[in-house]
Amino acid sequence: MIIAIDGPAGSGKSTVARLIASRLDFKYIETGSMYRAVAWKAERLGIALDDHERIAEVARNIIIEFQPGEERQKVMVDGEDLTALLKTETIGRSAAIVAANRDVRDVMVKQQQQMGQSGNVVMDGRDIGTVVFPNADKKFFLVADRKERAQRRHEEIRVKNPEIKYEKILEQLQQRDHEDENRKVSPLVPAKDSIRLDTTQLSIEEVVNRMLEEIGPVHSQ
Ligand code: C5P
Repeated sequence: MIIAIDGPAGSGKSTVARLIASRLDFKYIETGSMYRAVAWKAERLGIALDDHERIAEVARNIIIEFQPGEERQKVMVDGEDLTALLKTETIGRSAAIVAANRDVRDVMVKQQQQMGQSGNVVMDGRDIGTVVFPNADKKFFLVADRKERAQRRHEEIRVKNPEIKYEKILEQLQQRDHEDENRKVSPLVPAKDSIRLDTTQLSIEEVVNRMLEEIGPVHSQ
């Protein structure tokens, strides 16, 4: 069984995807961290994010693995644990730039398809229900008001970076929404057969329960 969860930044995807995977005992793949990893590596190598060829080369050579961690799973990039480093909104914006590169997407989508081929997986991102697994068993598209999404991100990031301003996060989110919705390759659009869920007024638990209801009983395959 494959469960696809798409939606804009801060809509709650990764939090609920992780919880659903743990309730169902499924594998969880957070595809956003793969684009973040490519952006992070490019910056470390001093490669301009709009250098199409060299960025594509980074994507072809990078080794991204998800490993079980204590609280959350770890994102290993070329053997290095980058879980915490990849979470910043600055890397999020850089990720949105490299994610507009068609060759980067080709490489990432193929890897995601391989990671999901053994089944029983929850995968979240922007194009999972439309491109990566168009035949997924269940597809969700999560949305929430932008101000609410910025608020959530702010609370999350403030723990590590108390100086961060809400207005700054709101502005970055706005730019990222614009980039994700307007890029030529795989823009953020809901799959026609996806279930749309507005999470603005809902608690995490409510979102998870609604989704589990939609998924229904799961039989091990
Ligand atoms: O989900 P997350 O915020 O970590 O994603 C970072 C960026 O990576 C997104 O803004 C988007 O541009 C890109 N992305 C994508 N396709 C995915 C997952 C993420 O284009 N499946």
